[in-house]
Amino acid sequence: MKIKLAVLSGDGIGPEIVAQALNVTKAVCKKFGHDLSYKEALVGACAIDAVGVPYPAETHALCMDSDAVLFGAIGTPEYDNNPSAKIRPEQGLLAMRKQLGLYANIRPITTFPSLLHKSPLRQDLVEGSDFICIRELTGGIYFGRPQGRSEDGETAYDTCVYTVEEIERIIRLAYSYAQKRRHKLTVVDKANVLCTSRLWRQVAQRIEKEFPDVETEYLFVDNAAMQLIQCPKRFDVMVTENMFGDILTDEASVITGSLGMLPSASIGIHTSVFEPIHGSYPQAAGKDIANPLATILSAALMFEYAFGLIEEGLTIRRAVNASLKEKIVTEDIAGDGKSYKTSEAGKWIEDYCSGQ
Ligand code: IPM
Ligand code: MG
Repeated sequence: MKIKLAVLSGDGIGPEIVAQALNVTKAVCKKFGHDLSYKEALVGACAIDAVGVPYPAETHALCMDSDAVLFGAIGTPEYDNNPSAKIRPEQGLLAMRKQLGLYANIRPITTFPSLLHKSPLRQDLVEGSDFICIRELTGGIYFGRPQGRSEDGETAYDTCVYTVEEIERIIRLAYSYAQKRRHKLTVVDKANVLCTSRLWRQVAQRIEKEFPDVETEYLFVDNAAMQLIQCPKRFDVMVTENMFGDILTDEASVITGSLGMLPSASIGIHTSVFEPIHGSYPQAAGKDIANPLATILSAALMFEYAFGLIEEGLTIRRAVNASLKEKIVTEDIAGDGKSYKTSEAGKWIEDYCSGQ
């Protein structure tokens, strides 16, 4: 199969972790006889520095022209600590999601037997947890207008907006995932307070009738946040709006034991994007210590979701599992044991993929 990738490494540890995911991707393509080509482009703070905007038109054109996008992370402390910056790296990520029409962010949460002890939660609570969080990605308070400050600067406002159409497509997608899994869907909202959430619930309750084979439950987001760590095994597919999904998935990462483990797929109208859920971890940039697994697992999702290449994805998953078992891991999960560099852990996985 011909595979044409856009590689957007971004800022901070982005280039280091994407390099490993790309090497693994190359190894898997070689092994299975796929014809891989790729081009790199700028996004985030590095794009602002180079050309003045965080998601340049050339980057968008490359994404549109590619079969999938492999994405690292964006953000630097200079911007994080400067709330009055007019242009922000995050705007690049949001512009990319919006312009590519990536309305669904799929974040699978699974545990790894060899990492169970790393979770701050009790082992018997997290063992066997396996659910998918589907986060709406192009609507809600992230994109709603108006947004800004009053003239005197004393008041600021954001607006949460959702249309029936936006809710419907993500709810339907969530049902299709539930049908392929354990037939349970949890719709998370704040319908006791927010108008947008009441619309979510109304639309979901209408669509629910079309899927009698799926058990649907509705949870308020505060309750969901509690249950997520109190009893993660009760979830199968969870669907929620943009900001709730952002927050709940960082919370869910503690189940896995490290934020450095969770991959994601953003899908929608144009080219799909595969990215770790963690940020750019600027303190670690250039030190070759960041955990590359979330990005490598995002490459596995890419083979599966973007190309339907299940065996290729599995090859990567087996290699990642083997690296965990053999403890070829970066310092965030090594604990008191020996830790490996980003590049060493990546190379081990790459070689394991080639050798399988
Ligand atoms: C994520 C990140 C982004 C988000 C930031 C970097 C804008 O936290 O992908 O979860 O909030 O969506
Ligand atoms: Mg986030």
